[in-house]
Parts: sequence; C-alpha cells; structure tokens
Amino acid sequence: MSIKKFSNFFRTFKSTQNKKLLDLKEIHIRNKGYVSDKWASYLDVYSEIFANKRDKEGLTLLEVGIQNGGSLQTWLTFFTKIKKLIGTDIDPKCSKLKYKSKKVELVIGDINEDLTIEKITKIEKKFDIIIDDGSHLSSDIIITFLNLFKYIKNDGLYIAEDLHCSYWQDYEGGLDKKDSANNFFKKLSDVVNMEHWINQKEDLHSHFEDFPVIKKMHIDDFFLITSQVHSIEFRNSICIIKKKKISSNLLGKRLITGKKAIVNDDVLRLRGKRASLKSYLKKNIKNLKKDST
Ligand SMILES: C[S@@+](CC[C@H](N)C(=O)[O-])C[C@H]1O[C@@H](n2cnc3c(N)ncnc32)[C@H](O)[C@@H]1O
Repeated sequence: MSIKKFSNFFRTFKSTQNKKLLDLKEIHIRNKGYVSDKWASYLDVYSEIFANKRDKEGLTLLEVGIQNGGSLQTWLTFFTKIKKLIGTDIDPKCSKLKYKSKKVELVIGDINEDLTIEKITKIEKKFDIIIDDGSHLSSDIIITFLNLFKYIKNDGLYIAEDLHCSYWQDYEGGLDKKDSANNFFKKLSDVVNMEHWINQKEDLHSHFEDFPVIKKMHIDDFFLITSQVHSIEFRNSICIIKKKKISSNLLGKRLITGKKAIVNDDVLRLRGKRASLKSYLKKNIKNLKKDST
C-alpha cells in the first residue's frame, strides 16, 4: 500500500472510530466532569431499555435528584438527539451546577410540591423518560410516581431507582411492610390485567387499601394512571414502568385461525370476539382525554 493510500485509510479509520458511540457504562466511566453516582448494574439495564430511544429525535428526560450533577452530563452524551434534559433537586446548592448546553435546565425544589412540578412542566410538558433518584423514602417514591406519571409520553418509561431502600426501616421500608414502595409497585403489577377484574374502580380502592395516599385521590384520577400502565419490570433495585394508551393495554381481538377443529370446535364460536374498549371505558370513565385512549 502506498503511503498516500495508507494515510487515507488511517484517516477514515480514525474518523469512524471517533464517531462510534460509546456505550453508557463507558460514558459514565470516562466522566471527568461533575460527579455521578450510579450502580454498575443500572448502567447495563439502562443500556438495554434505552437502546431504542438513544437516537430518538426530540427526546425529553427528567431526572429527580441530581446531587453533584454528573448524571445529566452522561444523559446528554448518551442520547444523541435529546431536546431537553431537566434535572431537579431539593438541595439549593445544586443551583451552582452549570452546563454549557442549553438543552439542560435545572429546577430547584421539592419534587412533591406543586410549584416544582409547575416549573418543570412550564419548560417541558411531557417526557420520554422520568428517573426518580430522589429521597428514596417509600412515601416519596409513591407520591412522586402518582404525581409524575401523567407527564410521561405514550410509550415512555418511568423509572424508580434505588428500591433496595424500600427494604430498609430508615427509608420507611421493610420486606413485609405493606406500604413500602416496592410493595406498591408489586400491587401495581396487577393493574396490567385490570381489564379482567370484575369491578375495576371498586376493586382499585380495596386493592390499594394499604396506601392512604390513594384513598385521598379521586378514583377517576387513579384509574387514569393505572389504565395506562402497560408493563412493570423489576430489576435489582429498579422498577421500570412503561406507559401506553389504554387501547394498547387491552387484550384485543381473539385471533382464531385455521379451518379444522377436530378436537373441540367450540372455540370457533369465539372467533373475532374482542374485549371492547368502548364498554370498558364507558363503565369506568366517561370523559377521558383523547391522548390517553
Ligand atoms: C442519590 S442522590 C442523586 C444522585 C444523582 N442522580 C447521580 O446519579 O449522581 C439523591 C438526590 O435527591 C435529592 N432529593 C431528595 N429529596 C428530594 C425531593 N423531595 N425532591 C427533589 N430532590 C430530592 C437530594 O438532595 C440528593 O441530591
């Protein structure tokens, strides 16, 4: 290979290498800026669950609890087309954090105060991803989820971090503590199948009777949250809740195909039967917003 050809080859190779996206763990490890505190396994989970959002145009992310601010730099590098990244923290010292990118905004305040949520949603109405890495107190984790889930976009993810705290007394937790954050999310996993409950609204209240905060909520508001829970996934110390429109959370049409039913032909009578979205909604909420159905 001539020297000229070799240097061209080398230049192309180098630029391809530079363009190659670093994986999340690499970004976190190479961080030389503001300190970020994440467990290694979280980075593996995030790489997996954020893979299809990494290049999403106009992505919006809210992180509750930023402390030294390094995680915002990680997200900014990881999500290549991020539009807005909001970090919020109750600690006023976080206002000292400065970012070159205009995509990053900080909101100082308690996430469970209306004013803080108002300030956040004035900047950005809905989020692809919300990560709660705040106080880790069980009551806060539950209230934050109830307050913020409505600001997740269709197909978006809500993530509660550090749920190991939910097993510890100091954080209002315990393995058998009925109102711990993890027990709340475990109860919430039943709402994925809520369509099959006999009385959705009545049963919602009794199902969550260990959580006084839910008793205080209007049942329609809680139904609206629960009916948009598409899936709940538990990983070590993390709970991931995916939000989808109500119609995407129903069982749908019964697809019975084929022509020969030589063992039991009863099944053919059920062909095309569907769980009706209309009657389900009519039974539960009349004036649902269009974007939730
Ligand atoms: C574990 S640290 C966050 C670490 C950060 N996400 C990171 O990756 O490096 C938790 C932060 O949550 C903040 N926090 C605690 N309670 C809060 C609340 N009610 N509202 C907002 N932030 C809160 C604390 O001030 C603290 O800075």
